[in-house]
Amino acid sequence: MTLRHFIDTQDYSKQELLDIIELTRKIKAADKQGCTPKLLQDASLAMIFEEPSTRTRVSFEVAMTELGGHALYLKPGEIHLGVRESMYDTAKVLSRMCDAIFARTLKHETITELAKYADVPVINGLTDYNHPTQVVCDVLTMMEHMPPGKQLEDLRVTFIGDATNVLSSLMFICTRLGMHFTHAAPRKYQPPEEWLQIAQANCAESGGSLTITEDPVEAVREADFIYTDLWWWVGQEDQIPERRAAFMPKYQVNLDLFNKAPAHCQFMHCLPASRGVEATDEVMDHPRSIIFDQSENRLHTEKGLLVYLLYPRLKRPSEELQAYHRGQIEAFLQRMI
Ligand code: CP
Repeated sequence: MTLRHFIDTQDYSKQELLDIIELTRKIKAADKQGCTPKLLQDASLAMIFEEPSTRTRVSFEVAMTELGGHALYLKPGEIHLGVRESMYDTAKVLSRMCDAIFARTLKHETITELAKYADVPVINGLTDYNHPTQVVCDVLTMMEHMPPGKQLEDLRVTFIGDATNVLSSLMFICTRLGMHFTHAAPRKYQPPEEWLQIAQANCAESGGSLTITEDPVEAVREADFIYTDLWWWVGQEDQIPERRAAFMPKYQVNLDLFNKAPAHCQFMHCLPASRGVEATDEVMDHPRSIIFDQSENRLHTEKGLLVYLLYPRLKRPSEELQAYHRGQIEAFLQRMI
């Protein structure tokens, strides 16, 4: 069985990404009728978090439980990773005990190194470069909220604000799937050239398009979805005055800007949000805000991803084989009683 990690959506073709989303939709439909199949019975997921998380942690942990498996939350300071033990040794040990490894790491190189040594699938739960599981969920959410008469390749997605790890992943998946992606930000906060080259190559293959602009009003004029993210993250506290001055008020998603988009346009945010900063309460809680559908879809998407990566790898012994081993063990135990 080929080992596949989920580090970057760029490692997956358009068809593979659509397959993951279709699988997610089927598992979500089962879940909505209270019958999530136990497809990952007895499987274990080791979850390493170098940064805090609400949605990602809860969604992966609940997903494993509902699929019949188990997740272990491994906090910094509670495991040896990178302090008293090499990455190589940690990856090898976790691979012997668990069926997959999830990691949210400060540096992207940490997760690529883990993946280099692991013998089980490694799933990226956010790094300083990207957030691939988030954006698979985002595309599923857009498909569920598709404007009438449109299909995936017609969708216009506008991201307003800092070129965050979510921006990179959203730009990559949208352009890979043939969608039309626009980013509006001050020049200093626009994506680096390497990211643009990846997205442009995607567009050349998929027929999608990429627009980078400093004009948020022009950026939302034809948008089906407006998406924003935090203007600063943990570790950027010293930059808050500079960043606030660069983005406020021009790039804040407030009612004034939202009303410049088409009447069907819907609002998205990966959360957590700084309400009143990158987006106002009026937009966050607007009837056309889909932020909580988006959040819920993290759970369904993690199930889809976990099943896609793990189900083909799990051993499914016959009842005869299980009975044989149970008999051998119980016969041995009888001698001890
Ligand atoms: N969107 C997201 O990744 O949220 P958490 O940081 O709470 O996991």
